[in-house]
Amino acid sequence: MTYSIAMAGKGGVGKTTLCGLFLNYLAEKGKGPILAVDADPNSNLNEVLGVETAMTLGDIREEIAKSEFAEKNPIPAGMSKQEYANMRFGDALVEMDKYDMLVMGRTQGKGCYCFINDLLRDQLQRYYKNYNFMLVDNEAGLEHISRGILPPVDLILLVSDCSRRSVQAAGRIAEMITQLDFKANKVCLIVNRVPEGKLEQGVLDEIAEQNLSLIGVIPLDESVYKYDAAGKALVSLPEDSPIKKALGEIVGKLGI
Ligand SMILES: Nc1ncnc2c1ncn2[C@@H]1O[C@H](COP(=O)(O)OP(=O)(O)OP(=O)(O)O)[C@@H](O)[C@H]1O
Ligand SMILES: [Mg+2]
Repeated sequence: MTYSIAMAGKGGVGKTTLCGLFLNYLAEKGKGPILAVDADPNSNLNEVLGVETAMTLGDIREEIAKSEFAEKNPIPAGMSKQEYANMRFGDALVEMDKYDMLVMGRTQGKGCYCFINDLLRDQLQRYYKNYNFMLVDNEAGLEHISRGILPPVDLILLVSDCSRRSVQAAGRIAEMITQLDFKANKVCLIVNRVPEGKLEQGVLDEIAEQNLSLIGVIPLDESVYKYDAAGKALVSLPEDSPIKKALGEIVGKLGI
């Protein structure tokens, strides 16, 4: 069985950073095979991981949607759209030592994509079963999950910074999740970028007010800023860096 985890939360709270480090943690602990999915149209999970990505599923969707009108149809004669999508899907998968990665890319252009979305959905549903874990980095709206393109998730990690507004946004997302067609088994809150890792009472009160289940706090970590500024992949941060240590504790608490 694949255990699937999705990050969600307001813009800029640290979803991609924590998703990348979570993935790295699982990979280092030998929990693979793992599929990382970058489901943010402004994808940048690969930068946290230090991985080059080539093609997105959005590119493939676009290519197939336009194939009939293209000067030269990329789909070879005698090959169905389905077969072509299968083949291209393999091209979009970046295979690394300890995990594989897919980038969803843009969700839609003009025209009707229902047919191609269905193809991609079928492929993802079949494909993700090959992995022990699937980790999805989302944009705030959870579009790929809410539209059912990505398989249902077991665990949703809501990320917030330590502002009340961001906790309220996490509360709204938690509320939105309850209205989706599937039920995640678990929805937890991680508060990120907390000065010295200590939450003010007012923020704790807001978390209680929003009925959120706090699984852990990640400190504001200066080394993240330094690595980022130097263009270094965050996964190469030292194992005893505050962010990695705090995340390791959270994974432990989750019992993964
Ligand atoms: N614990 C931390 N300490 C210091 N800086 C952090 C921490 N977590 C994240 N950051 C920094 O905060 C910024 C935003 O992080 P990130 O890109 O992961 O957020 P996001 O939620 O994925 O944003 P978006 O909504 O734009 O996708 C980045 O510059 C990142 O390096
Ligand atoms: Mg992001």
